Amino acid sequence: MANISNQVEEIQVKLKIELNNCPNSNEVEQIKIKFFGKKGLITDLMAQLKNFSLDEKKEFGPKLNEFKKYSEELINSKKENLIKQEAAAKILKMQNFDVTSYTTNQLIGHKHPYSQFIEEIENIFMSMGFDLFDGPEVESDFFNFTALNIPENHPARDMYDTFWLNKKNTLLRTHTSPIQIRAMQNKQLPIAGIAIGRTFRHEAVDASHDEMFMQCEGMVIDKNINLSHLFATAKKFLQIMFDKKDLDIRIRPGFFPFVEPGVEIDMRCPFCKNGCSVCKQSTWVEVFPGGLIHPNVLNHGGINPEKYSGFAFGFGLTRLAMLKYGINDIRHFYSGKLKFLEQF
Ligand code: PHE
Repeated sequence: MANISNQVEEIQVKLKIELNNCPNSNEVEQIKIKFFGKKGLITDLMAQLKNFSLDEKKEFGPKLNEFKKYSEELINSKKENLIKQEAAAKILKMQNFDVTSYTTNQLIGHKHPYSQFIEEIENIFMSMGFDLFDGPEVESDFFNFTALNIPENHPARDMYDTFWLNKKNTLLRTHTSPIQIRAMQNKQLPIAGIAIGRTFRHEAVDASHDEMFMQCEGMVIDKNINLSHLFATAKKFLQIMFDKKDLDIRIRPGFFPFVEPGVEIDMRCPFCKNGCSVCKQSTWVEVFPGGLIHPNVLNHGGINPEKYSGFAFGFGLTRLAMLKYGINDIRHFYSGKLKFLEQF
């Protein structure tokens, strides 16, 4: 049984070395597992006992038990010592903490005004029961034009100065309306949702045009949807957005190939009673176009226009944000100038 004595000695040396090199109290736990875990060295050693004869058990049993107890105590006392040392080190560190020392002011950031504005729009529409939809910025000709009732060579394509990509029939979406088709194809009826995202047009940049701008698309499709649903939705949205309970809207005819009839919605100028520079003395401000979704578009989206109808609208966020915050140049939004951003 010299073998057992050798094993005990070997394990004891190993344990002592490991404990000696142990840097912190957490590591002691790992050592404990290594020696006393299910497959631990000492657990294995103890398991050998059951194969011994009665005499051997009498001789080695108490010794092994003693070794086990001794090892446990060794581990526990190492852990206690390390915990004490760690606590002492922590106190020492705290003692050097000077509560009167001077620190420079921290600059606390906040959300970009555009992000705040997007969240506000989303919250208003979600409170009216709309879902949030999404679609890709790189679109196909089909989703951006054809499915929206703008076939190839249709003059309406001229309304959109398009960034075509090297891949055939692929472009940067010129508006968020392709998401209408994607929603029709992927969502269950009835549908009520908005989608906010980047859109791209090959335009010269000036104070009110940018090559990249954000649009919000809205759509509702169900049985018996008519224009009054669109008007009520637009009115409620604008009343909340401009915080004016009695804000009124008016409707003019408008043309987009994917709506029939198409309308332009204006709102009473939220800033004046008798005319100002924002409304160009007219007391009305153009806000966004919309209309009833054209039957061809519903067909492209796989929806039967005999059974269902819907309305859609779409607006550029920048113009609305400029109106709401009284900003005169859209380039401010992307300038990254703190003087501008800090006002929000
Ligand atoms: N997609 C149109 C545009 O960019 C806006 C629009 C959306 C008009 C929905 C009517 C209905 O220019």
